[in-house]
Amino acid sequence: MSNPMKSSATGENLAQVPVWLFILLFVLLFWGMYYFDQNSGWFNAHVYSPYRNVAELQLYQPAGGGGNDRGKAVYENVCALCHNPDGNGKPNQAPPLVGSEWVLGSPARMIRIPLAGLAGPVMVKGQEWNLAMPAMGAALPDDDLAAVLTYMRQSWGNKASAITTEQVKAIRAELGGRSQPFTADQLQQVP
Ligand code: HEC
Repeated sequence: MSNPMKSSATGENLAQVPVWLFILLFVLLFWGMYYFDQNSGWFNAHVYSPYRNVAELQLYQPAGGGGNDRGKAVYENVCALCHNPDGNGKPNQAPPLVGSEWVLGSPARMIRIPLAGLAGPVMVKGQEWNLAMPAMGAALPDDDLAAVLTYMRQSWGNKASAITTEQVKAIRAELGGRSQPFTADQLQQVP
């Protein structure tokens, strides 16, 4: 009786691969798939990192300042003395920041106030103030000033866009070390 596997040279080679090797490979492959199934989480993003992007991460920050600890710290050290820690200002010392059109409005105006100061009559939420604020932010680094202004715009119920370090840097360069405080009228000319 002739063996069909021996009828050609290639058939002879095939017949020499031991059957147990195929079984072993199959078992290994099966075990690998099983192991992957148990341990991989099937590439679900939640398994590999809790947050998929910066916006999602910020969603989970504790309320109040939007996770802006730096801005809060600078505010409490430098601005809260007059504007009050709760942003409501103090009679005859400083106007409120909560709901203020200067805080919620044009970033270019707001950034100028701590860089050069503000003096003379100014309307805040329908009330006139006539005091003077020194250039309290002139000595702060650009990123600290951006953080504190962002903190003011996003705390105590205020909701406005963040102020970036680049915006502060650009306006500081534009002012070129100006020491004369602005008046409210001058700021109104700034877009
Ligand atoms: C020494 C007290 C004092 C400190 C400290 C102070 N301010 Fe003021 N701030 C004032 C006064 C007074 C005014 C109103 C000035 C006027 O009447 O023309 C004012 C007005 C403002 C206004 C516009 C009006 C409003 O209430 O929205 C902004 C914005 C502001 N300050 C931001 C800041 C920031 C930012 C800091 C900290 C870097 C700061 N201030 C620190 C006294 C202060």
